[in-house]
Amino acid sequence: METILEMKKIHKSFFGVEVLHGVDFDVRKGECIAICGENGAGKSTLMKILTGIHNKFLGEIIYKGENIQHLSPLEIQHKGISMIHQELNLLDEMTVAQNIYLCREPKKNRLIDFKKMNKDAKQLLERLEEIDPKAKVKDLGIAKKQIVEIAKSLSYNADLIIMDEPTAVLTINETKMLFQLIRQLKKNGVAVVYISHRLKEIKEICDRVTILRDGTYITTKDIEEVSEKDIAELMVGREIEEVNQKEYSGSGNIALSVQHVSDDFLKDVSFELKEGEILGISGLVGAGRTELAEYIFGIRKAKKGEISVYGEHVSIKSPIDAIKYRIGFATEDRKGSGLFLDRSIRDNTNIVSMLKSKNIFNNRRKEEILAKNMIDVFRVKCQSTVQKIKNLSGGNQQKIVLSKWIAVSSKILILDEPTRGVDIGARKEIYDIINRLAEEGKSVIVISSDLTEVLAISQRVLVMHQGEIRGEIVGDEINEENIMILATGIGE
Ligand SMILES: Nc1ncnc2c1ncn2[C@@H]1O[C@H](COP(=O)(O)OP(=O)(O)OP(=O)(O)O)[C@@H](O)[C@H]1O
Ligand SMILES: [Mg+2]
Repeated sequence: METILEMKKIHKSFFGVEVLHGVDFDVRKGECIAICGENGAGKSTLMKILTGIHNKFLGEIIYKGENIQHLSPLEIQHKGISMIHQELNLLDEMTVAQNIYLCREPKKNRLIDFKKMNKDAKQLLERLEEIDPKAKVKDLGIAKKQIVEIAKSLSYNADLIIMDEPTAVLTINETKMLFQLIRQLKKNGVAVVYISHRLKEIKEICDRVTILRDGTYITTKDIEEVSEKDIAELMVGREIEEVNQKEYSGSGNIALSVQHVSDDFLKDVSFELKEGEILGISGLVGAGRTELAEYIFGIRKAKKGEISVYGEHVSIKSPIDAIKYRIGFATEDRKGSGLFLDRSIRDNTNIVSMLKSKNIFNNRRKEEILAKNMIDVFRVKCQSTVQKIKNLSGGNQQKIVLSKWIAVSSKILILDEPTRGVDIGARKEIYDIINRLAEEGKSVIVISSDLTEVLAISQRVLVMHQGEIRGEIVGDEINEENIMILATGIGE
């Protein structure tokens, strides 16, 4: 097949540190090619170079026979290359349609033709999922936001679409939809660059895979030539052990009891969490998992509902109350509420303890030690503890989200999509940490759309559907099929 893109010997440095060391990459017409590599390997950076976002680099980029390495992001878009970014880039106050057609609004008599714009947006979205083009982006959940991003990239009618972790926040059904769309795009001769840490998806949808390790090009293979395990081992350069779910070995005491929570959306939700237990909460997007977590953490008010922590009835009106009862909540939306992107790793890992402590003169040395410790434990790829969060790779940002809650020694931890965008090696490290926390008597709730993840660590699984807990699965019964039956409500 015809090669449409060639990137040759790409070198890129940030602040004097080289992160890409002469990477080669090529794309053929109508194919889906994956880029795989650990967190910080340079995947997003390579694609930002291609799309003109980073313009200081060495090397050559040839697209359809033409040198394009000096072009601006806008010029690149006009050449027919569009990108769905790993971090969402939408304007919250604007509508879905306005976001899709930003700066390219259809005009009528020199005024924006809203009718046409909304109609076009609706048509685009129909290929994906029912989303009202007139809805404000801020009112959408994170999965829907992601779908708007996908629709936006389609609206350019590009010949090459780069998807950087498009499914990290999507669940099975939406992922299926996206895959259908990719197949359709391929048929129309559109090439897709697909970046994901879900190797199963890569085997399913991609034709070839290019592997990067630490900013170095390793190899490119036809997808049939490699297994998931092969890809993982090429990425990390060593063998990887599987994670095995650990049996519950705690005291059996109830750490958290949530009773009869009801509001506009949640319907009489009750459950208990034991000391030292790892409880998975599964369900499709919009099932109410995040809402439940937000209620427990004091972000969301409910009409009815009671919470007890270690047998004591408590009133949690705000996150500060929740933190007082040693509840931690690592949110799924790291850009929105998980992290202070402009602050350093040190500040972010210490932020919760700063809130808790009455002493405003924090001890810099202590903070430094803690941050260093967390960087070690999570193997965060960074230059120093004062590096800004926004300059870390996506997966490494996620590790900081987790570390800040572990740093304050929460007793009950709610982790919403804890390994979103985290590579397979680091994912195993995070599972090991969760298992270790549970062994120490901490109780962990893992909310996850990634079934492989739910199966890998949960000792018990609750499945939610439309604001309700539809069922509980324990022990040997925990498998993909049983979860899906409850999650989709098929078994009714
Ligand atoms: N703006 C920046 N300033 C400084 N360093 C950066 C910047 N952007 C990326 N880096 C560094 O470049 C390296 C590659 O990062 P990149 O985001 O490309 O990784 P990635 O392969 O996309 O990882 P992930 O799977 O976590 O998304 C990392 O070490 C990262 O810290
Ligand atoms: Mg990335």
